[in-house]
Amino acid sequence: MDVEIALRAFPDRVEIRPNTMTDVWRYSAEVTAGDSGVVEPIEGSYLGPTFRFRRGQRVRLVFDNEIPDESIVHWHGLDVPEDMDGHPRFAVPEGGRYVYEFTVDNRAGTYWYHPHPHGRTGPQVYAGMAGLIIITDEEEEALTLPRGEFDIPIVLQDRTFDGDELAYLPNGMMDRMLGFLGDEILVNGRPDAAFAVATRSYRLRILNGSNSRIYKLAWDDKTPMTVLTTDGGLLEAPVSRPYVTLGPAERVDIWANFAPNEVGATRTLVSLPFAAPEMGGMMGGTATLPLGAGFDVASFPITSVADSTDALPDRLSDPGFASVDEAVNVNSPRVVTLAMAQGAWTLNGRTFQMTNVAQDEIATHGTTEIWEFHNVGGGMGGGMMGGGMSGGLAHPMHMHGQQFQIIDRSVDNAGRASWETVSNGYVDDGWKDTVLVMPGEKVRVLRRFTSFPGLFLYHCHILEHEDMGMMRNFRIDTP
Ligand code: C2O
Ligand code: CU
Ligand code: CU
Repeated sequence: MDVEIALRAFPDRVEIRPNTMTDVWRYSAEVTAGDSGVVEPIEGSYLGPTFRFRRGQRVRLVFDNEIPDESIVHWHGLDVPEDMDGHPRFAVPEGGRYVYEFTVDNRAGTYWYHPHPHGRTGPQVYAGMAGLIIITDEEEEALTLPRGEFDIPIVLQDRTFDGDELAYLPNGMMDRMLGFLGDEILVNGRPDAAFAVATRSYRLRILNGSNSRIYKLAWDDKTPMTVLTTDGGLLEAPVSRPYVTLGPAERVDIWANFAPNEVGATRTLVSLPFAAPEMGGMMGGTATLPLGAGFDVASFPITSVADSTDALPDRLSDPGFASVDEAVNVNSPRVVTLAMAQGAWTLNGRTFQMTNVAQDEIATHGTTEIWEFHNVGGGMGGGMMGGGMSGGLAHPMHMHGQQFQIIDRSVDNAGRASWETVSNGYVDDGWKDTVLVMPGEKVRVLRRFTSFPGLFLYHCHILEHEDMGMMRNFRIDTP
């Protein structure tokens, strides 16, 4: 083992807002053997510390669950064996321990960890249990990307306070159907985020760690967004977008250049308004900051002149993509229909069963397949809201076990108007583990089953949908 880490989840009281103590559940970690630089707290944050792993490193994490609830830790985006993946069937009770051992074998980029007990992921992440995993590799080390203090984590979450305490209110069926939306934006667990920067380039590692909010991220001065990575690490080359659409669990690393700015100026990262998908008349539910509203995310006051900078590389990595013709089902993609049925969000009409897989959820190890996520839109087929519901919701679909490629997307006429307000911000050029599927949208992805065999999850990463059962197992069998 190269490094051993003791990881705890425990209740605590922390200062999120100035001079106010708030109850949270949080992670802490300590290196018990090996390089102590592997654990790095985010300054001023109660979120879990960042794990800085190197590709090829062998790690052992001993997880002690000290919260009054069952829990298990999932390493979102990492390729690990099935019993190391934090599947809910391995959840341990309060006082329980789970020992993880795996080799880090992912591309350089930004990943994260969070709890995954069935039905309880939403409230546990909401209470504070989440942290970043940063992976480096040789390919990345050869590049001149901003490092150290010029490499800034930005974890986006929305929260609602009730007095001093965090309020998690998806109590009613409707709130859970819609997904939780907080009325305040926290960055790294803090309100009113401001990062003092110098006149140089920075790498901003942005994770949408929100339970259900979608962000449409842009610079207030209309500078295009320069994207270095998606979920599965470095792109082949940087890409530029007018804005970046980021669904729950998705990540992008942005190259931000403050060199043209004057000391004393401020640039602001904002979330632009968009036409949020609606569910009949139920849009936004009771949220005071509804989905699709615009707001400021973080400000970057330029406070000093830098004496050096890092230029943007033309080329970042060799992604090693698979080709569509490798797929064993080129002419008959596996279709996963996202829809409401019998008052629940479903995948092909089914909800989660702890260890079951259906016949059409079994793949063969060593193969490549096309999967098509089809968000049919509203509650067609007589959902709980009957015929009164139209439009539907966006679902960020996540697959465990291995990163995939996005082949293409299409949208139907009913969904088009809303889709067009976010689709220029999709970054489909790199490896992904989560893909936003808007109402009426079909997304085809190419997925290899070459990592580990076994039972893994795929689910919607709106945590309220996941907790309600918009999650299934798939099984990779060795031939
Ligand atoms: Cu980030 Cu199955 O989760
Ligand atoms: Cu995951
Ligand atoms: Cu969903």
